Amino acid sequence: MVQATFHFPRGFLWATATASHQVEGNNTNNQWWKWEQEGHTNGTSGLAADWWGGRWREDFDRASETGQNAHRFSVEWSRIQPEPDKWDEDALEKYRTMLRGLRERNMTALVTLHHFTDPLWVTDQRAWETEAIVPLFERFVRKVVDAFKEYVNLWVTINEPNVYALSGYTSGDFPPGVHDLKRAIQVEANMLRGHAAAYRAIHELQPEARVGYALHFRPMAPKTNWSPLDRFMRNLRYEGINMAFPTGISTGVLRSPAGNIAVPEARGTQDYLGINYYSVDRISFNITKWKELFTYSDYPEDSDFSENRYLANVPEGLFQTIKWGVNTYPNLPIIITENGVESSDDKIRPRYLAQHIHQMWRAVNFNWPVKGYFHWSLVDNFEWERGWTQRFGLWGLDLDTQKRIRRPSVDLYAEICKENGLSSEMVEKYCPEVFDKIFPT
Ligand code: FCB
Repeated sequence: MVQATFHFPRGFLWATATASHQVEGNNTNNQWWKWEQEGHTNGTSGLAADWWGGRWREDFDRASETGQNAHRFSVEWSRIQPEPDKWDEDALEKYRTMLRGLRERNMTALVTLHHFTDPLWVTDQRAWETEAIVPLFERFVRKVVDAFKEYVNLWVTINEPNVYALSGYTSGDFPPGVHDLKRAIQVEANMLRGHAAAYRAIHELQPEARVGYALHFRPMAPKTNWSPLDRFMRNLRYEGINMAFPTGISTGVLRSPAGNIAVPEARGTQDYLGINYYSVDRISFNITKWKELFTYSDYPEDSDFSENRYLANVPEGLFQTIKWGVNTYPNLPIIITENGVESSDDKIRPRYLAQHIHQMWRAVNFNWPVKGYFHWSLVDNFEWERGWTQRFGLWGLDLDTQKRIRRPSVDLYAEICKENGLSSEMVEKYCPEVFDKIFPT
């Protein structure tokens, strides 16, 4: 049997990612909490993983004891600025304590400034639908960066602007649950403006900062290659989901089916490319899918499905995505800001993890500048409209007791982080079913 280890460059970041609303608990002052109380989600976030109650400490311990050297978390705007003219210094101090907690554990912090949630007072002003949000967001960002800059120089301005805009304003799965493409495009344009303003503000306050955003990217193919309609729908969706923000940052123009919007200040506003990769899509034309502009996405029946069939395990898609990133932005460092799979019994996770890390290693061997990998997620957390039906944690969470459940993937990932690489022994031990795929003979 083959014996080998795929090593990564020295200093590679091995980490997990979380987001405030999904782990903190009792985030009562944002639009998601309200949306949950109105019954739009599969259960409510409630106490979540109780990080606000202090359980971040034990979870940071778990991360550091299992070899992780970085962590990505987000700060909750609605806690830091509960009202337009009120800053909560205690909340800021609590986050500073968390950042010190990372430093004490020798872990690098990556802080996300916006991860899907807005304070209710921002929602009352139509949130990202109008340009008025830009100075508001910038003010918040300045406050946070000023308070945290001694601990952080790696920032994500906005997490998945495409998902925020499209889920909130076309499919309607996210608040405000609207089906209006024009509004979705306005939202995305304002997020691009907000990102650009944040980028400049952060650099002004902290010249050495490395600033990016997290792009949810999905390689896509038409379901039927010879069908012009499927190909058209694939291109429409690809441009809308994958390309709007990246093109905006390359050219200063947000292109959309409803016309172009100039955002010249966005040009060149990223120091690294942050990629959230989960799966690939197969796109077809479907007359019933008016909310998605008649585009329909599914996975082939023979896919390696996650527990709820929410994802298909397609590791080559990560390689393709990194390749796209390198071709689009030559020389820009790349960070995998999210990647993971839902699995409460941990059946699929070990192979998903090993296979994606293998593909990332292939990319690194082309000298493509991948600098870190942030697995989603450290512990089970509140999965938005899907609530608690999806378990993405390396550690499971028992909601009634707050007890953490150590899944086998914890140990696989720990071995990877500590070795700074993936070995044939690890694959043999944790996911022998894919041994031949990763180490072909
Ligand atoms: C991403 C989100 C993250 C989490 C994962 C599963 O789209 O950024 O918050 O929900 O999906």
